[in-house]
Amino acid sequence: TNPQDKKILEDREIYLRMYVRSAAYFQENFVSSKGGMQRKYLLDRGVSPEMIDAFQIGCSREDWHGLEKFLLSEGYDQDKAVTCGLLVRNDQGKVYDRFRNRIMFPIHDLAGAIIAFGGRAIDSSEPKYINSSETPIYTKGKHLYGLYQARRTIVRDKRALLTEGYLDVVALHQFGFTGAVGVLGTALTQDQVKRLGGLCPRVDLLFDGDQAGLKAAVRAAEMFLIQGIACNVATMPEGRDVDDVLHGQGPEALGKILDSARSGLEFCVQTISRTYAPRDIMDWVRRFLDSIPGDDLRAYYLPRLATGLGMSETELRRSRFTSASSSVSETTGAS
Ligand code: GTP
Ligand code: MN
Ligand code: MN
Ligand code: MN
Ligand code: MN
Repeated sequence: TNPQDKKILEDREIYLRMYVRSAAYFQENFVSSKGGMQRKYLLDRGVSPEMIDAFQIGCSREDWHGLEKFLLSEGYDQDKAVTCGLLVRNDQGKVYDRFRNRIMFPIHDLAGAIIAFGGRAIDSSEPKYINSSETPIYTKGKHLYGLYQARRTIVRDKRALLTEGYLDVVALHQFGFTGAVGVLGTALTQDQVKRLGGLCPRVDLLFDGDQAGLKAAVRAAEMFLIQGIACNVATMPEGRDVDDVLHGQGPEALGKILDSARSGLEFCVQTISRTYAPRDIMDWVRRFLDSIPGDDLRAYYLPRLATGLGMSETELRRSRFTSASSSVSETTGAS
C-alpha cells in the first residue's frame, strides 16, 4: 500500500475507535444521573432495558462540550473528531458537540462497527432527529438502521420488515419481530434496496399511516418490484406508526395488520388509481415498466397491472410507446 492509502486506513481506524468510545460515553451518560430525563423519556415510551442494551442506546448531555472533553481526555485529536462528524466547527472556528441533550441511537454497519448516530430530542426542540453527516466512514443511503441486529433473522426467515423510524425498529425487535430494519431518515435508496434484496427475497413495508408514509411506501414498493424483489405493504391505522401500534395495541394487532398486507403491486395500483389523475396513472405505468431491467419481469407484471387498473394489456403496452421519451429501438428490442 502506498503512504496515502495507509494514512486513509489509519485514520479510518481512529474514526471507528472514536465512535466506539463515543457510544460508550453516551451509554454511561444514560445510566448515570446525567441521563435521568432521557432514561425516563425512553422508559415512558415503553422501550425495554433489553432493547436499550441490544441497540446500545445512550444519550448526549445538555452540554456543548461534553463529548469533546471526553474524546480529548482519551487523547483523540479535535480535528479528527470534527472530520468524522462527532464535533462541529462553526464559521467562527468554535468547536462543539454535534449531539446535545438527545437520545442517541448508534448506527452499525453489517459487521457491527458503529459508523454514525441518530439523536432524538426529548423535548419539542427542532429538529426532532439529528443524524450524522456524511463522513469518511458513513455514506448516507448505504445503511439501514438495525440491520446488524436483524441480519440473522432476515436470512433465516428469508424476509425483512422495513419501517421508517428508529423507535419503530426498536419496538418491532422488542415484540419479537427481529427481522426489522429502518430507512434512516431520507428516502429509501437503490443501495438500501439492493442490500436488503441481497439478504432475502421478500420485504414487508410498514410505513407510517400518514400522507408522507403512504407516498414513501409507494416509492419504496416500486423500487423493490423493479428489482424483482417481492414486497408486501401493510397499512398502519390513520395517524399511527408501528411503534404506536405495538405499544398501544400490542403485537397481535400488528400481526393482524401484517396478515392483511397487500402485495406491493396491488398496493401501488390501488393507491395510484385512487389518488392520481388518469393521465398521471399512465405516466406512472410507463415509468414503472421502463425502469424494469428485464423483459421476463416486465412480462410478469404486465397482466397484473392490466387487471389492477382495469385495462387491457394492449392498452398498457401501447401507453409505453406513445411517449416521446421512449425510443423506437426499445420497441423493437422488447418484441
Ligand atoms: P418518534 O416521534 O420518536 O416516534 O419518531 P418517528 O420515527 O415516529 O418520527 P417520524 O415518523 O416523524 O419520522 C420517521 C423517521 O424520519 C425518524 O425516525 C427519523 O429517522 C427521520 N426523521 C424524522 N424527523 C426528522 C428530522 O427532523 N430530521 C431528520 N434528519 N430526520 C428525521
Ligand atoms: Mn417528522
Ligand atoms: Mn411520520
Ligand atoms: Mn413515525
Ligand atoms: Mn413514532
